Amino acid sequence: MSAAETHISPDVVIEITQLNKSFGNNYVLHGVDFKLTRGENVVVLGRSGCGKSVFIKCISGLLKYDSGTIKIFDQNIFGISNRELDKIREKIGFLFQSNALYDSMTIRENLEFPLIRHLKLKSQAEINNKVEEVLTNVGLLNTIDMMPSELSGGMRKRIGLARALIMKPEIMLYDEPTTGLDPITAKEISNLMLDMQKKYNTSSIIISHDMNCAKITANRLLVLINGLFYAEGTFEELKQSNDEKIKAFFE
Ligand SMILES: Nc1ncnc2c1ncn2[C@@H]1O[C@H](COP(=O)(O)OP(=O)(O)O)[C@@H](O)[C@H]1O
Ligand SMILES: [Mg+2]
Repeated sequence: MSAAETHISPDVVIEITQLNKSFGNNYVLHGVDFKLTRGENVVVLGRSGCGKSVFIKCISGLLKYDSGTIKIFDQNIFGISNRELDKIREKIGFLFQSNALYDSMTIRENLEFPLIRHLKLKSQAEINNKVEEVLTNVGLLNTIDMMPSELSGGMRKRIGLARALIMKPEIMLYDEPTTGLDPITAKEISNLMLDMQKKYNTSSIIISHDMNCAKITANRLLVLINGLFYAEGTFEELKQSNDEKIKAFFE
């Protein structure tokens, strides 16, 4: 095999082969194969408790997996040092269901935090510029001096997204980005995710069971059933499936 063949294609940002993860006798992931290509949004569909969060926690290094290979930017993350893992993590943005905002900090402070902590930025002018730019992009510059508690659920979600994007991540991981939002707000967030994909040129994994969100954001969908990706396709392709297990998601 030539040297080139041992590397993943530059168009592939994450490549996973035969990923296994169990908790005792609970075999959550067994034999997951997955690829994320540069610039695409992949939506992972699956019933509650099927292992969607476990899947992205394995990718983000929050959970140790049992076996298999996860390559991120051509680096196998199995057994690498925390320092190396942190370097990879700097290129990954997360949006959790909780948004993970600090309640005692203003929106500005919440957004400054990762810049100072991870990028070690010292110039206040540069920090201000980045904070204002990202807030403008999510349409919430007017909230800069507010507290998270003064914002609606949808606005907090936008701020959570802004806080992830301010680090200019190459990969975004979204865990249930629209859960708990009303349908109109959920649609707005889904459209914003799509806008941000283009603006920040990110590749994203979006965990969801919101079919509207999937329809709006997905270039490709994967369905996680019984520990592996059971089906794959565009929204329209899966919608036309005759398989009862797939049809259940569209009812
Ligand atoms: N830290 C953990 N310890 C033990 N079991 C866990 C842990 N995290 C998740 N699980 C189990 O793994 C399965 C998948 O969970 P999860 O990935 O959170 O589901 P979902 O698809 O709803 O995101 C569930 O059975 C859950 O109980
Ligand atoms: Mg989950």
